[in-house]
Amino acid sequence: MPIKIALTKGRVEQQVVPLIEAGGIDCSGIRNKGRRLIFDEDPVFETILVKGPDVLTYLNNGSVQIGIVGSDILAEQNNPQYAMLDLGVGKCRFVLASTRDFNPQQVRRKIIATKYPNITKRYFQSIGEDVEIIKIEGSVELAPLIGLADAIVDITETGTTLKENDLHVYAELQPVSTKLVVNRLAVKQYRTEIRNFIDKLQTLGVNA
Ligand code: PRP
Repeated sequence: MPIKIALTKGRVEQQVVPLIEAGGIDCSGIRNKGRRLIFDEDPVFETILVKGPDVLTYLNNGSVQIGIVGSDILAEQNNPQYAMLDLGVGKCRFVLASTRDFNPQQVRRKIIATKYPNITKRYFQSIGEDVEIIKIEGSVELAPLIGLADAIVDITETGTTLKENDLHVYAELQPVSTKLVVNRLAVKQYRTEIRNFIDKLQTLGVNA
């Protein structure tokens, strides 16, 4: 039975494929994927492409043995115990951002829009502030521009989206990077294969 890897599709996928390829996994199928979701070209590892929040669902259920997912998702789902390796890619950061006229000291209770309500809640609790959180699913930058919220908590990588929408960073929350996480049972069951793979990635300069 191959060892299954749930890989977060999109940006993480693009940055991770060259890395795991250099680690010895045949990624020819993923590189020419079309609409396929399962890639079994490699004799040892079968890769499936899933949305970030679903990686831990597959992993916790035991349907896959390895997950590759951003630490933003791990922190939001409050399930960081499987993280084994920081892949050193997908580096970005959580910020509090809004329009230029936003006043962080405003007296009225703030409304914050985000894809990450738990991280947002923890951040505002840590600074002793009570805010209303509105969960939205994407293009979070729209919220303060359209009047849905006073500010947003979101991840930024290059800063382009904030800049092109004339949004300003008011606070830095926490850094984000892509993690390799392993199901606890799989660590025992596939100890040698997983260890070899992680060792290979580390010889390529990936940090534990
Ligand atoms: C993320 C994030 C920002 C954007 C920031 O969204 O929510 O919108 O990337 O990246 P930048 O600083 O490099 O411009 P993503 O592309 O994952 O999609 P989304 O709009 O569906 O949230």
